[in-house]
Amino acid sequence: MALQLGDVAPDFTQQSSEGEISFHKWAGDSWVVFFSHPADFTPVCTTELGIVSSLKSEFDKRNVKAIALSVDSTQSHKGWISDINETQKTTVNYPIVADEDRKVSDLYGMIHPNSLNNLTVRSVFIIDPNKKIRLMITYPASTGRNFAEILRVIDSLQLTDYHSVATPGNWQDGGDCVVVPSISTEEARTKFPKGITEIKPYLRMTPQPNK
Ligand code: BEZ
Repeated sequence: MALQLGDVAPDFTQQSSEGEISFHKWAGDSWVVFFSHPADFTPVCTTELGIVSSLKSEFDKRNVKAIALSVDSTQSHKGWISDINETQKTTVNYPIVADEDRKVSDLYGMIHPNSLNNLTVRSVFIIDPNKKIRLMITYPASTGRNFAEILRVIDSLQLTDYHSVATPGNWQDGGDCVVVPSISTEEARTKFPKGITEIKPYLRMTPQPNK
C-alpha cells in the first residue's frame, strides 16, 4: 500500500555518497527532508542539489538533515557532486543515496512508471524526529522544487508540534497563526499571552508564538 501521512518512514540500509546509511540511525533525533531526483548529471537536478546545500544553515536552525536519492551509483554521485560544487558555487554537505537496485525507491513509491520509466520522480518527504511522515509532495521531472516552500512547511509543522498553532493559507514566517481546534477559546486566552482574535468560534487567530 502507498505510504500516507502519519506512517512511519520505512527504514533502510543503502549505499550513499557518504558510505552506507542506515536511515533511522542516521536520522537520529532530527527532522529529515528526504528527496529524490530523476538522474545525476541533469540540469534541473544540478540546480536543486546546489540549493539544498546552500540552505544548510536554515536546515541546521530547524534541526533538519537533508538526504537525496537517485538510482545512480555512488561513483556517479561522487563525480556529479564535483560538478554541483563547481557550477552552483557550493559544497554538497549531505548524502545522496545510491539506489541502484531501486530498493528504497520502491519502498517510498518514488518511481512512477507512467511518468518516468525506471527513474525516480521528484518526491519530497518531511519526516519528524519520531520518524513519522509529515509531508509528501511529488513534482514532475521538468519542474525544479521550491525549497523555500519546504522550509515554510517545516516551520509550520514545528509551530504545530511545539506551540499548538496551525498556519493559515499562504502563511509566511511572522504572520498570524490559527489556534488549533482542540484548544478551547478560554484555554487559548491563557495559553497565548499575545492575545487571540475570535473571528468565529472555530476561527481564532493569534500572533506567531515564537516571534
Ligand atoms: C533535469 O534534472 O534537468 C531533468 C531530469 C529528467 C527529466 C527532465 C529534466
